Amino acid sequence: MARTSRDAIAEIKAKLSMVDLARRYLELRPMGNRLVAPCPFHNEKTPSFTCSSEKGLYYCFGCQAAGDIFDFYGRMNGMDFRESLEALAEETGVELPRFQKADGFAPKQVSHKQEMMKMHEIAAHHFRKNLQQSEIAGKYVAERQIAEEVLERFGIGFSTDSWQALADIFKRSGFNLDVAVECGLLLKSKNGRYYDRFRNRLMFPIRDVNGRTIAFGGRVIPALDDGESAKYLNTNGTPIYKKSQQLFGLDLARRSVTAQKSIMITEGYMDVLTLYQFGYTNAVACLGTSFPEEQVKRITELSKNVELLFDGDNPGREAAFKACGKLLVKGISCRVVLFPPSDDIDSLLKEKGKEVFENLRANSTEGLSFCIQTLKKRSPKDAVEWSREFLGQIEMPELFQPMATKLALGLGIDEAELRLGVVEQKKAQNTRINAQSGESAKPAVPKKKTADAEILTVATRYPHRLQTLQEMGADLILESPKAKVYWDKLLQYGEDEILPFLDESEKAFWVKCRSADAPPRNNEEGELLAIYHLIQAKQKKSYVQSMVAAVRESGEDAQKAYLRALYAQGRNN
Ligand code: UTP
Ligand code: MN
Repeated sequence: MARTSRDAIAEIKAKLSMVDLARRYLELRPMGNRLVAPCPFHNEKTPSFTCSSEKGLYYCFGCQAAGDIFDFYGRMNGMDFRESLEALAEETGVELPRFQKADGFAPKQVSHKQEMMKMHEIAAHHFRKNLQQSEIAGKYVAERQIAEEVLERFGIGFSTDSWQALADIFKRSGFNLDVAVECGLLLKSKNGRYYDRFRNRLMFPIRDVNGRTIAFGGRVIPALDDGESAKYLNTNGTPIYKKSQQLFGLDLARRSVTAQKSIMITEGYMDVLTLYQFGYTNAVACLGTSFPEEQVKRITELSKNVELLFDGDNPGREAAFKACGKLLVKGISCRVVLFPPSDDIDSLLKEKGKEVFENLRANSTEGLSFCIQTLKKRSPKDAVEWSREFLGQIEMPELFQPMATKLALGLGIDEAELRLGVVEQKKAQNTRINAQSGESAKPAVPKKKTADAEILTVATRYPHRLQTLQEMGADLILESPKAKVYWDKLLQYGEDEILPFLDESEKAFWVKCRSADAPPRNNEEGELLAIYHLIQAKQKKSYVQSMVAAVRESGEDAQKAYLRALYAQGRNN
C-alpha cells in the first residue's frame, strides 16, 4: 500500500501514462517530435493539444489548458482532483492511504461519485450472476443467439423479479441507500422503503470509456413481460451518467476505432453486441437517437471516418439524416448503411448472414448524397433552407465550395442562389469567432518576461533548487502578489502533487515551464546563474533608489556628499 498520497500519485502515474490516457479520448498524431490532436477543451480545427508520457503532462497551445493525468481525467469526466485520483487509483489497483487533513484534500470518506461507481460495479456483478443462474433469462439469450463470450465481454446480466435483492446487498455492505437512489439503482417508496428499480430485465451495463459501469439499460424479457412497462428501462441522468456524453460500447470499441481509423454508429444495444459477435469490434450505439453535440464531439475526436448503421424505417432514416448533417459540417466523412425496413443489424446478421451485410455496406450512401436524397422528398423551400443552414455551419473553409456545388447540383438549384445569404451569415459568424479568439488570445504570461516570471520559471523548472533561490533572495524581490502566492505553493508542495493546488493560469504556467516548448532542463546551473545576476541587478537598483530617497530627505551638504559617493561608486562598477 502506498504510504502517502504522494506515493500513491507517483505509483498511479507509473502505471498509467499520459499518452495512453489521452488516447482513450483523442486521435493523437505524431507531428515533429510530439503527439498532437485537436484540443478537447476548446473548439479548434488545427491541433494544438500536445502531451508527453515522459513528462506526464499535457498542454494546449490554444487555450492553455494544462495538467497531468488526474487533471485530464477530471476534465474529461467532470470530476474534481480527488474524484479522479480515486477513480484512477481504483483502475490501476493502487490503494490510497486515508487522506489526512495535511494533504489538503479534506473529506475523509470516499466521494459520492466513487460510491456510486462502486455500487454499479456490485450491481453489474449481481446481475451477471443472476443471468448465469436463471433458466428463463438463459433461454432468452439463447433464443437471441448471443454468444457466451459476448455476454461476458459486455457484462450482460439479468435482474430477477425480486423487489429487494440489490437493496439488500447495498444495505448489508453499508452503502448509503439514498446515494443508490440518486444514481438510479434503487427507488424509494413514499413510506421510506428502498426497492430495486430494475426487475425482470436483461441488463446492459453502460460503461464509460475507461470501462467503469456508470448506468444500465434493461430490456424486457418477453416471457416475463407484464405488458405494462417500456421495452427498455434506462438509467436517467445522474451525477455519474450524462447520457449525452456517453456512447454504449465505446470502452470495448475504442482500440479498434483507433486502429481501423473508423467507427460504426448504431442505434441499439443489441446491434453493438451482434456486430461484435460477427467481428465488427469498432461499433458503438448512441443512447437514444438524437445524437447530441457532445456525442458528435466525442466521435470526431476519435475518428474522422464514420459509418452510420441505422434502421431502414422512417425514424431511422431521419436519425441518419440529422447525424450526417452534424458530422459533415465538422469535416467528418460519413456513410449511411440503410437496412431493409423489416430488419435491423442484429436480425439481419443473424438471419441473413455476413455476406448480405457486407453487400449492404458496399452499397452504402455517402453522407451528403444521403442528405440530398432525403431533401429531395421535401419541399424545395425546405431543401434550400436546410442547405443554407448546413453550409453556414461548415467549419473547414475548404469544404464549403465542393459541398455547395454538390448540394446545388443534387437538388437542381442554382448555386449562386443557394449561396445567397450564407456568405453574410458566415461573415457574421467569423467576426464573432475572431472577436472571441481575440479575447482568449491574451497570453497568460506577458511576452517580455518580467523579473517575477523569470524567477518563477526557474523555480518551477528546478523545484529542488528552491532553497538556493531563497538564499539568493529571489522570493524577496518578487513584485506581484500573484507571484508571491505561486511561490508559496511551490514551497509547500512537491512537484508530483502541486498541480491540483494551482489555479488555471498557474497550472498553464507550470506546465509551460516544464514541457511544451520549454528548453530541456539540462542547464540548471546556467539558468540559476542568470537568476543570480538578475537578483543582483535588482538589489542594486533598489539600493540606489533607497539611497536617492534618503538623500532627498537630508540636508543640502549631506546630499552633495552622498551624490559624490554614489557617482564614485557608479564609476567603479
Ligand atoms: P429498438 O426498439 O430498435 O430495440 O430500439 P433493439 O435495440 O433493436 O432491441 P431488440 O433487438 O428489440 O432487443 C433501439 C434502441 O433505442 C433505445 C435502446 O437504446 C435501444 O437499444 N430504446 C428503445 C430505449 O431506450 N427505450 C425503449 O423503450 C426502446
Ligand atoms: Mn433489434
